[in-house]
Amino acid sequence: MSPPTTLIYGGSGKVAQHLIRHLLSLPLPHKIHPIVRSASQTPALAALGAHPIVQSIETSSAEAMAATMRATRATAIIWSAGAGGGDPARTRAVDFEGAVRCMDAAALAGVKRFVMVSAVDVRDREGGAEPEWYDEGDRERSAGMWGKIGPYMEAKLAADRSLVGENGRRGLEWTIVRPGGLSEEKGTGRVSAGKVHIQARIPREDVAAVVVECLGNEGTVGLAFDVVGGETGVKEAVRKVVEGREDTFEGRY
Ligand SMILES: NC(=O)c1ccc[n+]([C@@H]2O[C@H](COP(=O)([O-])OP(=O)(O)OC[C@H]3O[C@@H](n4cnc5c(N)ncnc54)[C@H](OP(=O)(O)O)[C@@H]3O)[C@@H](O)[C@H]2O)c1
Repeated sequence: MSPPTTLIYGGSGKVAQHLIRHLLSLPLPHKIHPIVRSASQTPALAALGAHPIVQSIETSSAEAMAATMRATRATAIIWSAGAGGGDPARTRAVDFEGAVRCMDAAALAGVKRFVMVSAVDVRDREGGAEPEWYDEGDRERSAGMWGKIGPYMEAKLAADRSLVGENGRRGLEWTIVRPGGLSEEKGTGRVSAGKVHIQARIPREDVAAVVVECLGNEGTVGLAFDVVGGETGVKEAVRKVVEGREDTFEGRY
């Protein structure tokens, strides 16, 4: 049996490097192709046991991305790329337009499974009601995020809206993982997931563990949920989200 083959967009990123370690330590290790934009990024990823491919998100068409997916016989896509804030035009080009081309590419190549790393509070703040579980702290955090990194939040919203709202034409098996602020601290293996308060940060290593858990749990297909640092083991936290269908994006885009 050939191993699951996973392409990671944003493959040289900090979350991606944890993803590579997690996916390689599974009982059935994945073959991993981190997609990067510079050849200088490949030796470090190869040293981790991955098979990096150089293909810039900004300059690649959906067809070119699909060709890579076909050539590698990809079985799953993880989107963990981002322009890192800053320039709004580049943010839109990577976090929105690049992500949408990647979704289109997956549909063209017939790769069904697509896990998106998004962020808490990505939602239509103007048109939709505030999440009913938000408290004063969440409201402050939301205002802070949209005030400081509005173009990033808009780009993520547009990408996630396309992933969910336009899936009729793509037919992807998507999951959206929406982490709180990311930290470089060591992972604890414990999180709080679903309809949670959004102030707590989460180590990148734990975000990677949640994404990997989603890949192994088909119940997460068609779900978008928040995840922050917490006290529940990753497997159990994801299981509870699935059981309660705790979607934090539905009706908010
Ligand atoms: N920071 C937070 O607190 C936060 C919170 C919630 C969610 N997120 C999301 O979590 C995800 C992972 O975060 P992270 O900390 O791992 O980010 P990161 O370390 O900045 O990784 C993002 C990756 O995207 C790559 N990228 C950017 N433009 C590209 C292009 N044109 N072609 C190919 N690759 C390109 C970057 O490559 P280069 O190194 O070449 O630029 C980088 O490796 C992102 O989607 C981010 O939006 C972040």
